[in-house]
Formats: sequence, structure tokens, C-alpha cells
Amino acid sequence: MSDIIPKPNSEQFFGEDIYFDGGVGISACAEAESAAAKLKALLRRVCPSVIFSDNGNVSIKLEKDALLPREGYVVDARASDIVLTASGSEGWTYALVTLERLLKTEGGDKALSLSCPGCHIEDEPRFAYRALMLDEARNFFGETEVKRLLDLMCLYKLNVLHWHLADDQGYRVESDVYPLLTTISSHRNDTQVGGIRSDKFRGLASSGYYTKNQIRNIVEYAKERNIVVVPELEMPSHCSAILAAYPHLSCTGEKTEVPTTFGTLHRSFCPGKQTTYDFLDKLLDEWCELFPSSLFHIGGDETAGSLWKQCPDCRKTIADNGLGGEHELLPLFVNRIAEMLAAKGKLPVIWADRLPRGVRKFVTYTAWLPLDRKAVAAEISSGRLFIVAPYDRYYAGQPYCMIPLKKTYDFEPTSIANGSTDAGFFGVEMPMWTEWVYDRVKLDFNLFPRLCAFAETAWTNAQHKSWHDFKKRWQAQKPTLDSLGVGYAKDKLTDPGAFARNKGAYIWKNIDQYDEVRKNDK
Ligand code: ACM
Ligand code: ZN
Repeated sequence: MSDIIPKPNSEQFFGEDIYFDGGVGISACAEAESAAAKLKALLRRVCPSVIFSDNGNVSIKLEKDALLPREGYVVDARASDIVLTASGSEGWTYALVTLERLLKTEGGDKALSLSCPGCHIEDEPRFAYRALMLDEARNFFGETEVKRLLDLMCLYKLNVLHWHLADDQGYRVESDVYPLLTTISSHRNDTQVGGIRSDKFRGLASSGYYTKNQIRNIVEYAKERNIVVVPELEMPSHCSAILAAYPHLSCTGEKTEVPTTFGTLHRSFCPGKQTTYDFLDKLLDEWCELFPSSLFHIGGDETAGSLWKQCPDCRKTIADNGLGGEHELLPLFVNRIAEMLAAKGKLPVIWADRLPRGVRKFVTYTAWLPLDRKAVAAEISSGRLFIVAPYDRYYAGQPYCMIPLKKTYDFEPTSIANGSTDAGFFGVEMPMWTEWVYDRVKLDFNLFPRLCAFAETAWTNAQHKSWHDFKKRWQAQKPTLDSLGVGYAKDKLTDPGAFARNKGAYIWKNIDQYDEVRKNDK
């Protein structure tokens, strides 16, 4: 057995090790040449003294089998031959990730000798969409930090960065079309700390945005690691930062500042004005030019319907379209934006707070709140795609006293629908909301080992999962994460026991979210 996370779906070990003492020769089919270059760099990194030689005693071959699934791979290591087979770059990427976990070095820091256990691993992911969502609207981390997370995502075979770049407290994309988004919306005067009910602030202004070149760099860096960057531009609510620069887009036109507090703020674009759609159309063009992903997340959660009720433009739209009330403005808005995006070659995704009627079927739902299981099953059978991201299992921003590690690991994604099979689900996502996370220390603490537990629910078939076995493999991950400088949460904090769990909701609202992190140092 290996200590790989996520656990491969089929692995066999022969009980013999292959030693690379006499040098290693690498050969690759034409399509795998760039994977071969990565393999060479990997071996050098793991064992700086490794000798490359076509006459070496070990050969590593990268071979193609077009019949393997897109992200699937086979590692076959026996006698003196290691063969890494895949149908394309995605599979070779993961074959290399697995190989790196299998390799053993001896000789301490100098890594003088290298070996690989004889084995046969056949692996492919359970779900096609395996995402980390990073909220940089609430707190901005920057290019270096995002690239570090992309490296860690690849290590755990996650393939989507859902990048939340616009919300009430900040807008993070350089704009030539609407320059005030860069100068006004990317800046706020302070940041609330200590929970939603707290009146404490950091006492620091906070700003940041990505230049277009940085975004292109990050998208390219992600692609090299088989990761697609799916951007999120929140609408029609969670958009106060944009309204601070362009107040005419709201129902009242009221001038407001970029908020410094968190929670549901009840500000919104007016879904009853043509100006809103014209503005968003141009803005979406600017984003679509930066993000090649076919998926595009448009938020859609926690909409401020009470504002729409009082707005003459919204009321007129309700009447003109024969809608049953302001709650039907959300499907109307989503459909208009969805059609706009479809015309730009994109597939829209929204957060589904509930299951609104009449939303076009090509709009994918991210399920985060509990939904009616029968209704989800009916949506799936009518062709709707679902991404599963339950707030009480996968939300990485929550303290461990509310979501202990086992609760994340044990979650079965298909349980959100009655009688569903894997085929009905597009995938799963771990959202990292950052209202209460403003530095790398807490980011690492909240994400690790949670992201590992999540990755196993994303990749490994349910029948191959085992909490007991996962815990052992997690212990074996620690030296790797230590060497990468990742400040993961200690075991005593990830499993805080029943007492803390019962106090969860209270803690979320009232207590400084850095409490757990401080305990991690002790
Ligand atoms: C959400 O957590 N408001 C999607
Ligand atoms: Zn309105």
C-alpha cells in the first residue's frame, strides 16, 4: 500500500524495490515529450545526484493508450522498467504526481540513492470537476500565494481553481473598460475581525487587484498543472464594491463605500434596468478575454429581493414579464446573463440557495445549502449539472470545531439527491471563503488537512475510501507538507470532540476566528 492521497482506485505492490543506482534512461512518445521533461526535473528535484543515461539500469517510458480515460493513468513498475501510460497530458501529469509519492530516497538531505517500489497502479478520478474555490474579494493574497496553492492542488489531483474575484468587499481584476473598478472597487478602508457580530477592526486599509498580465500568467501556470481557472463575478447581489464605483447600477443609485464588514449586505444591481445588462455585457467581455475556461461562475446567491420590491424599474419588469413577484426576478436575471454568456461561448454556473423555477438547463448549480433531495434528483434527470459544495462539510473557512476533519472525509456527494448515481454529478468543490482569513498562516491552517480529505472524496471511489486508512496516510503526508512550508492544523484541533462541536454555531458568530490558529502553535 502506498501513502498516496487521494487513494488510487487500484494498486498492487509486488514487494520488491527498483534501485536507480546505475542511471536512468527516459523515453517518451512524441505527445509525452513535455511530460518527459517534467519527469527529468522531478527526478533531479527528488534526487539531485541521479544520473541520466540511455544505458542506465532503469528505464522509464511514457506511453500513450488512447483508450484510457482523459485524466486516468497507469504506473507499472517491475524488474527494471517503469511505464507511465495515459491518453494525454492530463493523465501523464497525474502519473508523475503519483510517481513522485512512490519514490524513496536514502542518504538524508543529499538524497544519494533513489528507488521505486515494484507496483501496478491503475487510476482515474471519480468526478470530472474537482475544485478549490478561493475567495480573494474578501481578502487579497496575490500571485505568489495563488501559484503556491495551484502547486498544492496538483499534488492532490484537483483540477479546477474557482476564483472568486468580486464580492461586496472588493473587486480584483484590472479593468480598462471601467477604470473605477481598479481605482475604487479594489480598495477598502478597514476590515472587520472576530466574527459577524464583532465591532473590532484590523485598523488597516486593504487593497489589491490582479493586472491582466498576472491573470494570464496564473491561468497558464494552472494549465501546466492540469488546472482550469473558472472565474467568478458575483451578481446580481454581493456586488457592493462595484456599486461603490458605479452606483447608478443599483435600484436607488445611492452612493456607498466599499464595505468593511461582512455578512449579507443587501445591496444589488437592479435587474429591472437595461443599463445593468449593458454594463455587465461589456464587463463580461473583458473577463472572457482573460479566462479561456468554458465555465463561468456568476454568483447568484443571497440576492437582495426586498430592494427589488420597492424599485419602480423592478416592479415594471415584473409586470411586463407577468412574473409572480420579485422572487422571480432572479431566474429572469440569471437567464438573461446566461444567454449573454452562452453567446460568448461560456457555460454559466450559479450558487443555488434553492432551486428556482425556470432557470435555463445549461446553467450549472453549485449546491451549498441543503436542498430538497427529490427536487435535486428531478433536476438531474432533466439534464441539470450539479457541483456539490455543502457549507457544513466542505466550507474550509469554518473553524474545525464546526467542521471536524472526519465530517469532511465521510461526506458522500451523491447523498444530496434521492437515488442518484455518480453520473448525475459534475463534481465537487471545497469553497475557501476568506472573510476571517487574512494571511497565509490561517489559509494553510484551514485548508490542511481539509483539502486532502476533500480531494479523496473527489477522486477516490466510495468503496475504496476508509477514514482509518486516510488518517495513517495523512500522517505520512506531513514531511512533504513540512518541506513545502505548509502550516497544517494539528490533529488535536482537526478532531476537537463533541463538546466543541455543540458550540459551533455560537463560535462562528461571536468568537475570534484566529483562536484555533493560536492554539495550533502550542
Ligand atoms: C455562499 O456561501 N453564500 C455561497
Ligand atoms: Zn431595481
